[in-house]
Amino acid sequence: MEKKVYIKTWGCQMNEHDSDLLQNILKKKKYIIVKNPEISDILILNTCSIREKAQEKVFHQLGRWKKLKDKNNNIIIAVGGCVASQEGIKIFERAKFINIIFGPQTLHKLPNLLNKVTKKNPFFIDIKLKSLKKFNLNFIKTIQKKCVEYVSIIEGCNQFCSFCIVPYTRGKEISRPSKDILLEIKKLSQTGIREIILLGQNVNAYIEKKKNKIYDFSDLLLDISKIDKILRIRYVTSHPKKFTNKLIQLYQKIPKLVNFLHLPVQSGSNRILKLMKRGYTIEEYINLIYQIKKIRPQMVFSSDFIVGYPGETKKDFEKTINLIKNINFDTSFSFLYSSRPGTKASKLKDFLSLEEKKKRLYKLQKIIKLQSFQWRRRMLGTIQNVLVEGVSKKNHVKELFGKTENNRQVYFSGDSSYIGKLVKIKIIEINYNSFLKGKLL
Ligand code: SAH
Ligand code: SF4
Ligand code: F3S
Repeated sequence: MEKKVYIKTWGCQMNEHDSDLLQNILKKKKYIIVKNPEISDILILNTCSIREKAQEKVFHQLGRWKKLKDKNNNIIIAVGGCVASQEGIKIFERAKFINIIFGPQTLHKLPNLLNKVTKKNPFFIDIKLKSLKKFNLNFIKTIQKKCVEYVSIIEGCNQFCSFCIVPYTRGKEISRPSKDILLEIKKLSQTGIREIILLGQNVNAYIEKKKNKIYDFSDLLLDISKIDKILRIRYVTSHPKKFTNKLIQLYQKIPKLVNFLHLPVQSGSNRILKLMKRGYTIEEYINLIYQIKKIRPQMVFSSDFIVGYPGETKKDFEKTINLIKNINFDTSFSFLYSSRPGTKASKLKDFLSLEEKKKRLYKLQKIIKLQSFQWRRRMLGTIQNVLVEGVSKKNHVKELFGKTENNRQVYFSGDSSYIGKLVKIKIIEINYNSFLKGKLL
């Protein structure tokens, strides 16, 4: 009988994409993906380790699943993702009832590992890094219900920002061959995909050595832009340090690149940026934004911020607030600094009280929220390029939805023939929630 699989995932878009790949791989092997853990034969946890008590979150979830396994000992439990990669066998030592530990780069081996599990040999671990095998083109979905898809171009990270666990959990940077990426995107475009979101922790570190030539992220973008049916290109996440002039110039050459860029800065203080080992100054960051805006005045930006990095003074924090006011970000993510095992920053003394950190985060988030709302308000009455993604679930009338270049969801009347098309929409209503209402022009 076909086995039922339940997958629970949290973390970045890359991890979500990994779970999608995993689903495709398992479906090819005739497993059935279900939405209810209670009826599953196999339970998979795909974990993230970027912040807070990631390990505890894993054991809490495993504790809940243990109850299911106590009732049915045939259930197989597999733990993957960045916590698995970071903690390895320690997870099994604390939760002896689990059967498989796999890593972000061994997920393609899961069907094989599942087959190996028996009553006699109930546990296997494989968390080796530096493999691109999970990106095998056979795992691409051939039937699509949507028109936006993620495509991974690079795994791992070499930056070693002092606060970050990713280089330890995902390993060294490794770029996929460009011919595979381009073939994947072509195939996706034939299944109805119109927008591609390129993925990597550091997409602009993408590099391929072709004979004596270097083929970089800009070259890849140019080639992707030549695929006719692809109407829009986004990428996440790019690093300010690796943003070359060549990449900036592409904003002139490739209209398919959206007028929106997520460019994490982390802090507005040069002193903190240096401690974080980010590799750029605030002046360089501002100049980069200025250079891009010179070519594309309509560009809007979003960012990530870490509040309360060890040693962050009130003055440092005020510099971050000033930067936010200065750049006027469209939307941003902000986090309390969280000490991660094995990182450089985890060895630093942290004198700041949690209360003070929370106060700072609250202040920062209030400004970001206000700016974000102001951006939305400014959109009222404007004409936006919208990629139509589908029919709204909420309404029975003919209502479609799509996204603007700056990722705002817009609802408008129209028939389903518009799905997958880029249309001009006049924004006619905004509200405090995230979505907008528009009119097809
Ligand atoms: N590669 C991307 C971001 C990766 S992680 C970049 O370099 O910009 C996503 C975000 O999580 C980071 O931008 C950072 O803001 C946040 N983050 C990473 N490690 C963190 C930590 N230890 N504590 C708090 N936030 C963290
Ligand atoms: Fe982490 Fe820095 Fe790499 Fe981003 S660039 S994944 S923050 S080490
Ligand atoms: Fe989390 Fe790993 Fe992504 S730590 S943010 S799942 S790369």
